[in-house]
Amino acid sequence: MGVQSLLALAVAIGVTSYLKLHGASYSAILLGLLASTVAQLAISLAFSSLIYRWFISPTKSLPHPRDTPFILGNLIPFLSEPWGFPLARWQRTVPTTTSGFYRVFLGPFDYLIPKSSQAVTTVMTQPYLFHKPAAVRDGLVESLGVGLVAAEGSVHKRQKKLLTPIFGMNRNRRLVPQMWAKALILADKMQELVIKFDGHSDILFMHPLTMAATLDVIGVTTLGVDFDSVTRPDQPILKAYQRVFPSFENQSATEKFFGATLPAIISPHLLFKLPLKPIQEFHQGMTFLQDFCLAQIKQKKQEIEDDKNDTIDVREKDILSAIIASGLEDESEILSHILTILAAGHESTAITLAWAIFKLAQHPIVQDKLRAELQAATRDMKGKEMSLDEINSLTYLRCFLMEVFRLYPAFPAMMREAGNGTLVGDLHIPKGKQIMVSPYAVNRSQELWGDDADEFRVERWEESYSGGAKSSQAFLTFSSGPRICIGKDFATLSLKVFLVVLVSRFRFEEAIPGWHPIIQKGTSLKPQGLKVKVTLL
Ligand code: HEM
Repeated sequence: MGVQSLLALAVAIGVTSYLKLHGASYSAILLGLLASTVAQLAISLAFSSLIYRWFISPTKSLPHPRDTPFILGNLIPFLSEPWGFPLARWQRTVPTTTSGFYRVFLGPFDYLIPKSSQAVTTVMTQPYLFHKPAAVRDGLVESLGVGLVAAEGSVHKRQKKLLTPIFGMNRNRRLVPQMWAKALILADKMQELVIKFDGHSDILFMHPLTMAATLDVIGVTTLGVDFDSVTRPDQPILKAYQRVFPSFENQSATEKFFGATLPAIISPHLLFKLPLKPIQEFHQGMTFLQDFCLAQIKQKKQEIEDDKNDTIDVREKDILSAIIASGLEDESEILSHILTILAAGHESTAITLAWAIFKLAQHPIVQDKLRAELQAATRDMKGKEMSLDEINSLTYLRCFLMEVFRLYPAFPAMMREAGNGTLVGDLHIPKGKQIMVSPYAVNRSQELWGDDADEFRVERWEESYSGGAKSSQAFLTFSSGPRICIGKDFATLSLKVFLVVLVSRFRFEEAIPGWHPIIQKGTSLKPQGLKVKVTLL
């Protein structure tokens, strides 16, 4: 029990005894306890924001953003902008210290932000010392179970060892035909929409289409199930995901406010019990997904058991079959892996694909160059799908995608917490200190990428394989170190396949010249209402 909790307990006992001694009724005692709790909370908040942070904290000497109001700290930019935006501004304006960290204040809570590549390395290469904060982990466990995203320490190490080979190059080779088929279905759907409109071109909202298409890819590659979300937007898995991860576009102003604020201030255990409509929708969606995935697990187990010849086509049919064939028997762990892969795999890829198409529309010269590369590579193929090696030999496609990844990381901020007190250079980071690593800010750092860090410049990847970055920690779209995204190559491959198919069949142009979609506030880089003009080639 911490000092604060002991103090709170002592005050509660004191208040109760005092009121009892003076013959107060039970309701008066209850009211007294409530009043003392509110008073303690106010005193504790005032102490953290006005005294501890400035005069006592071991990180008190670190710089902070210049425009920091005393009590609220930097809370307003975090509530009113996508998280990456203020972090990218501060990456440039807050002075660099010897430890490489600076700090920001979300109301009474202090966060350390690693700014230099050395500070980023310190945090990312020691994932079990700087682990996910309990509140983040509890939220993940509550929804996905203890899969790779939520696991820590030795459990994470064991799970990563188990799953890494399943996401290796050999699997990717097998996945290309499935990804290609799904990309063709997306292209057919877009063609149908365009033809229905005026036979030639139409303005399409891309994000719902990319969400459906990437969900279909993850369905067929992970479970071997064709969700068919692109052609059937009312299919139940897509509906369930729309309940679990609602888009802000479909929410009322109150839902938006609570959606952005409550998870930051209430523990997940309590949050998931609140009788609010979005929470009930979340539970209904999750229950549906869990039941569906559990049924798939049982069916796959049976198929593998029935396969007396132990054939590779059955064991390696999809990611779920490979997980079962690896010898993992615990059904609840398999369920967590599948829920994690489905959730972590489709929305991030959908967001990136939508941004990639938007950048093509904004940069016609880049689009022409990419199309020329694809035409040269597929000239003699007569519409046949490309192999993994052929796709990976498309150098301009790689450069284009890397620049999209750099500027539009699907997750602009990752939360961490110091599991123990530790010394970084001359800085003592106390146990429990909250840390925020921002792929969005680091990927746009002028110190790491040069003065043109904000510009969309594909050539930087043509000039140098690393894009000219000054450090291996300058590109954090997929995180780095032992917790690096396990689906990095999977996502890259499926995005390449989608782009090869779509750029070969359509021209993308800005729907309104100079228009830019709004980015959803909070922890993802989800674009709202991203639209482009799509013309049949
Ligand atoms: C463009 C697409 C993607 C992006 C930008 C992305 C980004 C990330 C990031 C930043 C993390 C680290 C999160 C953290 O530690 O707080 C992560 C972890 C993870 N991602 Fe991805 N991801 C993408 C696609 C995928 C796909 C397609 C899959 C699976 C098929 C996947 C599965 C995972 C898993 C399982 C983890 C946890 C890894 C670990 O903790 O060891 N991701 N991803």
